[in-house]
Amino acid sequence: MKHLTALKALVLLACGAWAVTISEIQGTAFQSPLAGQFVHGLTGVVTAKDKYGVWIQDDRTDDPRASNGIRVYGSAAVKYASIGDLISLSGRVAEYRKTADDLFLTEIDYVTALTTISSGHTVEPIILGEDRIPPRNQLSSLDIGRDGWLSVPSNLTLLESVNPSLRPDEFGLDFWESLEGQLVTVKAPTAAQFPDRFGSVWVYGNWPTTGKNERGGRTIHSNGPDEAPPAHPEAIFIGRPMDGTRNPKAVMGAVLSDVTGVVAYQFGYYYILPLTAPEVVEWPDFDVPSSTLNYTTHPCQIRIGDYNVENMNPRSYHIPKIASHIAHHLHTPDIVFVQEIQDDSGARNDGVVSANRTLRALVNAIKKASGGVEYEFVNVEPEDNKDGGQPGGNIRVAYLYRPEQVSLVPGSIGNATLSTVPLVDWEGNVELSYNPGRIEPEHSAWEEARKPLAAAWQLPSGDRFFTVNVHFSSKRFSSSPQGNARPPVNGGFEKRTSQANVTAHFVSSLLDLSPNASVIVAGDMNEFTAARSVLRPLAAILIDANDVCGVPLAERYTYAYDQHAQEIDHVFVSDAIARRGGDVEHVHVNTWARTVGERASDHDPTVARLWVCDAEIDAAWTAVEYGTDHGQTVL
Ligand SMILES: *[C@@H]1O[C@H](CO)[C@@H](O)[C@H](O)[C@H]1NC(C)=O
Ligand SMILES: *[C@@H]1O[C@H](CO)[C@@H](O)[C@H](O)[C@H]1NC(C)=O
Ligand SMILES: *[C@@H]1O[C@H](CO)[C@@H](O)[C@H](O)[C@H]1NC(C)=O
Ligand SMILES: *[C@@H]1O[C@H](CO)[C@@H](O)[C@H](O)[C@H]1NC(C)=O
Ligand SMILES: *[C@@H]1O[C@H](CO)[C@@H](O)[C@H](O)[C@H]1NC(C)=O
Ligand SMILES: *[C@@H]1O[C@H](CO)[C@@H](O)[C@H](O)[C@H]1NC(C)=O
Repeated sequence: MKHLTALKALVLLACGAWAVTISEIQGTAFQSPLAGQFVHGLTGVVTAKDKYGVWIQDDRTDDPRASNGIRVYGSAAVKYASIGDLISLSGRVAEYRKTADDLFLTEIDYVTALTTISSGHTVEPIILGEDRIPPRNQLSSLDIGRDGWLSVPSNLTLLESVNPSLRPDEFGLDFWESLEGQLVTVKAPTAAQFPDRFGSVWVYGNWPTTGKNERGGRTIHSNGPDEAPPAHPEAIFIGRPMDGTRNPKAVMGAVLSDVTGVVAYQFGYYYILPLTAPEVVEWPDFDVPSSTLNYTTHPCQIRIGDYNVENMNPRSYHIPKIASHIAHHLHTPDIVFVQEIQDDSGARNDGVVSANRTLRALVNAIKKASGGVEYEFVNVEPEDNKDGGQPGGNIRVAYLYRPEQVSLVPGSIGNATLSTVPLVDWEGNVELSYNPGRIEPEHSAWEEARKPLAAAWQLPSGDRFFTVNVHFSSKRFSSSPQGNARPPVNGGFEKRTSQANVTAHFVSSLLDLSPNASVIVAGDMNEFTAARSVLRPLAAILIDANDVCGVPLAERYTYAYDQHAQEIDHVFVSDAIARRGGDVEHVHVNTWARTVGERASDHDPTVARLWVCDAEIDAAWTAVEYGTDHGQTVL
């Protein structure tokens, strides 16, 4: 664009004033050094245009921190400037954001003296992955703490108050900020998951990334006990196309055609606003394989399923889909931990708290789907509107179980306010004071939250094991990971930390009575194990079933949010179970769906096959069928 420099010099002479360049306006920090000032004779070529303004660009300097593109806002630009025009204008340098939780977008407003110098110019986009490569680890130098961007306490500083100098080679926000306003191309991007409700799609380009799973998504995990989990700053959101076309209904792992657009900040995130919509050029396979953990023949082994069934009531359209997943993808496990069972009147706020009809409907649907497997169910009715979730819905956790395989240790079921505790019965066996029963339901940790349901079970042999089904508080009111608060706010983490703690306390009291007890704690914990401070109380006394079974780090996910695949549903087991080995699989019936609408739930189910009593009596059988290391077993 050498010729532009010459033209610009002419214009500047004509204006009779020395003017600034776009790079000087953008500067080398997050905010413009010229914010609030009026500038004259600013020139640039129009690269893109929408209803509210245009984007212009001039020559790039050698400093990778200073962008040479900028937003020109207002009707004058819309009216008088076209793509390819070299324009000159005067205006005010402004830092714009919609809310104080966002980062600023630098723009020129109050535009006057807009003139077109010449037309028909083209601007070569920066090829991401070739000309510039996004960093892969953390989002911001301000995300201090052991868990990086997931560290708590959070919101220790506000990025725009610090306004740090950009370090685009190291930090994701700095990288995208250094390209703000510039025309860029992403070649053959891979979608990270479904579009959001506005049609925007997270993508990874053809450049180095971390956490890549087999589907083509990127999973949140840390690489070691002392490493902060990468935040996937190398992903970018593709926003609404500027020419009015629509982005495709992408899915995790779909490959798109090349995208060219302008880097902008809006709605709490950096985006590429494409000139026109890409299309999907390669779809992943939509056949979701069933779990391979389809049977067990050993009396000490059980199969459990875990599934957040998303606000299920007796009339839910998704009951047959969930039932089919349990029957065909999970192969009717012996016990299914379910979360988000609503009461019999669903979201109607009418005082109904029983979920017998909801659970009956699910159990009947599974019987139909499986050709005859008949579950029994058990749950404890909550107090009306005391457990959070959709008002009136009274969601709770529940167990479905196959009475021919397992039964509850005889006892009396708890109620909403009674707390179950482990006891030793007259024969020296550990039992629960209420079975099943809630764990410290009146503890402040569970205010406006689902209470965990503990149960003592027995096998036909009489051997006992214990389960806790949990649904911790949600991440609602988290701030955008690309927002002003650093580290970003992890909504509800105090709640979840204390819930993990109360749950862990219960398990400890059980293990105090019986150090070799087989205990399984599973459910929707609304948290990643990489947010170590939150789940530490549980992780300190139990073992992640993924670790027992050697599930690759990148394949540990049950959910997709923003650009990440992530595991927020977990199975933790006691030492006794871990020592015996086992298998666990996350079955991606929902994160791999064809569309958001075709999902049965926002969570994927998990299935595990575990040993809940000692199989030594059967050592020969074990050796033949499983080798010596259960963790390595493939049926
Ligand atoms: C379990 O799955 C395997 C492979 O998918 C199949 O060969 C086998 O017949 C199944 N077993 C049962 C009991 O369903
Ligand atoms: C729900 O089912 C349980 C167990 O079968 C029973 O004890 C309870 O009375 C039922 N509740 C209602 C409201 O029908
Ligand atoms: C639970 O049972 C206890 C003891 O019978 C009783 O005092 C309490 O009111 C019950 N709670 C609810 C919510 O029904
Ligand atoms: C972060 O803290 C500041 C006060 O320092 C507060 O104004 C802001 O609302 C907080 N941000 C979020 C997302 O909670
Ligand atoms: C965890 O529980 C223990 C014992 O119940 C208590 O002393 C501690 O303060 C709790 N910690 C948190 C973070 O709730
Ligand atoms: C627990 O099991 C281990 C391994 O089977 C055994 O060595 C240990 O003695 C048991 N501990 C107790 C308290 O039963």
